[in-house]
Amino acid sequence: MKKIILVSLTILLCINLKSYSNEEEFNKYLDKSRNSSKKLLGTLKKTLEENLKAGDTLKAINVCSNIAQNIADKISNDEKIYIKRVSLKYRNLKNKPDNFEKEKLEIFEKMKKENKLKPNTEIFQNVIENNKKYFRYMKPIIANKTCLQCHGNETQIKPSVMNFLKSKYPNDLAINHKDGDIRGAVSIKIDLNNE
Ligand code: HEC
Repeated sequence: MKKIILVSLTILLCINLKSYSNEEEFNKYLDKSRNSSKKLLGTLKKTLEENLKAGDTLKAINVCSNIAQNIADKISNDEKIYIKRVSLKYRNLKNKPDNFEKEKLEIFEKMKKENKLKPNTEIFQNVIENNKKYFRYMKPIIANKTCLQCHGNETQIKPSVMNFLKSKYPNDLAINHKDGDIRGAVSIKIDLNNE
């Protein structure tokens, strides 16, 4: 009897330790995602503002396209994660959401309609995709007035900028946004298969 109790206790302890370490791992990936997301959005905001202040919207376009891509690629390499910006109304087809991202972007839109979207809203979970485990994280990107010079309506976007956008992105969906709209989200995916 004593032996059975001891064995049971040991099993219980192991299960507990296991779930504790899982939780610790989970928090580690959450922290990593939050930091990477902050880094991407922070660097972009700063670079975009600097370029817009210089008064050249056409030059600033580069920030939201090539530079955004470079910053995301750098974080992705440094942190060994998948990180990108996605949107339901994407300008560049590269930023089209996958099924998981689309579902979460729709949840953010629903929350916004119901006035439940907060500055710290985020969604994260472990998922299995094609028999592989990943940690996935998404955080909304909200449009402010600055963004409307390139994501607003025809009267807010300068003709020279509009012409450039039309020629580079003939299937652009990222216009007619308003201040406070959800412009998209940062999406992060961490591969858990080699952990
Ligand atoms: C100077 C023009 C300009 C401004 C200002 C601008 N953007 Fe963009 N934005 C672009 C361009 C061009 C793209 C397409 C990027 C690409 O080719 O990957 C883009 C793409 C994006 C994307 C990726 C999804 C998509 O539609 O392809 C997000 C998210 C985004 N912008 C958010 C913002 C936010 C938020 C602001 C304001 C803080 C902002 N942008 C301001 C030009 C701009």
